[in-house]
Amino acid sequence: MESTRSRLAHRLAEAGQSHLVQFWDELTSEQQAEMTSDLEAMDFQEINKFFRSAMEASHSSKQEKMDARMEPVPREVLGSVTRDRDCLKDWEEKGLRCISQSSVAVLLLAGGQGTRLGVSYPKGMYDVGLPSHKTLFQIQAERILRLQQLAEQRHGAKCCIPWYIMTSGRTMESTKTFFSRHSYFGLCKDNVIFFQQGMLPAMDYNGKIILESKNKLAMAPDGNGGLYRALGTQGIVEDMDRRGVKFIHVYCVDNILVKVADPAFVGFCVQKGGDCGAKVVEKTNPTEAVGVVCKVDGRYQVVEYSEITLATAEKRSVDGRLMFNAGNVANHFFTLAFLRDIVQTFEPQLQHHVAQKKILYVDTQGRLIKPDKPNGIKMEKFVFDIFQFAKAFVVYEVLREDEFSALKNADSQDGKDTPTTVKHALMSLHHRWVLNAAGHFIDENGTRVPAIPSLKDGTDLPIKCEISPLVSYGGEGLEALVSGREFRPTLVIDESGAHELVKNGL
Ligand code: UD1
Repeated sequence: MESTRSRLAHRLAEAGQSHLVQFWDELTSEQQAEMTSDLEAMDFQEINKFFRSAMEASHSSKQEKMDARMEPVPREVLGSVTRDRDCLKDWEEKGLRCISQSSVAVLLLAGGQGTRLGVSYPKGMYDVGLPSHKTLFQIQAERILRLQQLAEQRHGAKCCIPWYIMTSGRTMESTKTFFSRHSYFGLCKDNVIFFQQGMLPAMDYNGKIILESKNKLAMAPDGNGGLYRALGTQGIVEDMDRRGVKFIHVYCVDNILVKVADPAFVGFCVQKGGDCGAKVVEKTNPTEAVGVVCKVDGRYQVVEYSEITLATAEKRSVDGRLMFNAGNVANHFFTLAFLRDIVQTFEPQLQHHVAQKKILYVDTQGRLIKPDKPNGIKMEKFVFDIFQFAKAFVVYEVLREDEFSALKNADSQDGKDTPTTVKHALMSLHHRWVLNAAGHFIDENGTRVPAIPSLKDGTDLPIKCEISPLVSYGGEGLEALVSGREFRPTLVIDESGAHELVKNGL
């Protein structure tokens, strides 16, 4: 024990992190043992190196103006659901064929801490208040089930879409328990693969690791780009290879409209020969806080809105659209070969980004301090940082109202990206699906509700309507259930048919 202790003390001293054991003598032997094992597992030299290069990069990127180095995505790498309507069927067909050959996997980034939403459990377990009370995880699982079924029907072969779920030290156990309690929402347990991303300590501006209590370091997940290291350390690339996966759709947990393993997106990327692809929505408001996909110094990347001037954000092309309008919705396509190259060769070259944060800490007297301004940094890699290594990068533009509504914040008046806004986005999409399948809605007096309802009393509440993903993945297959029929909201369509809910507490 003594030799472990002195070895550790020596490593800490060498790395300039001896302050971490300043309260050692006040700890119980259990706490000492726990802290020893936490510290033993850490590579302080590597952490110090990450800190130095992240700080350097953050200073230099602020100094060099991004604006002059940016170019928009060229038309030849761009596919659009609106501008390339004629190709959509082909892309979808191609994607469904890949799915039917079990060569498409989905990978969910679910290691975030959901700080803005303010819940203590993983965001995927959140119930946004749909009539069915399905959680985000359940909605995604059912879309996978339905898509497998569609591919099987089309190509007559049994297939599987493996679902890789990246969690962090903070979310792993609760996520796994939740899935097991819900019998994997009908998916085969062996095809839901959990793996864990790394954690990094928060540091003060002098590179000292922050203590959140006398015996605990302030730790946080290493960003959604922690994916690439985890893919290697957890043997995920090999697992994909063994299963015959060739293409991977990576997405974030918070988008209620996400088209997991979207056949059209996959088909487009495959048809174009892309090794790396990004799904985007058109950014129409210059001040909207989304990153844009573009080229910087000739290489693809996502530039955050905070990195450019308003003048650049406001630039317009000849067609009147914003010049930098490829809004990142964090839906990516990768070939397995590309991911393998990243994991084996390029991952160490990815820089950590610096996020300045208010981090709870204990001072030298051992008092817990809640700072009122940022006192340190968290270091994170980003999932899109690998775009620069793509040999054939492609971009796929979709409609925001069909595919993107993210849950970020708790409900508040006029809030953006809240449980209410995402619930409304899903119901509004499902309302349109019913109308497109020649169904109709009537109000309490039996009068038909116009397809585009007028804003009554200043409210713009959507028609209450929810369609189970087990019935329809993207609006297909609804005619037999709704065509020529009139429904009084709330309408719920599930495996047992279309029902009006008498009581609606929405
Ligand atoms: C992300 C995108 C942003 C995009 C927006 C759209 C990144 C870095 N940024 O921003 O460009 O416009 O989504 O909604 O992708 N996560 C982990 N591990 C972590 C941190 C996060 O798995 O260490 C996961 C989260 O669980 C979530 C996703 O990554 O599923 C996005 O994380 P979040 O921090 O919410 O990203 P945004 O800032 O919203």
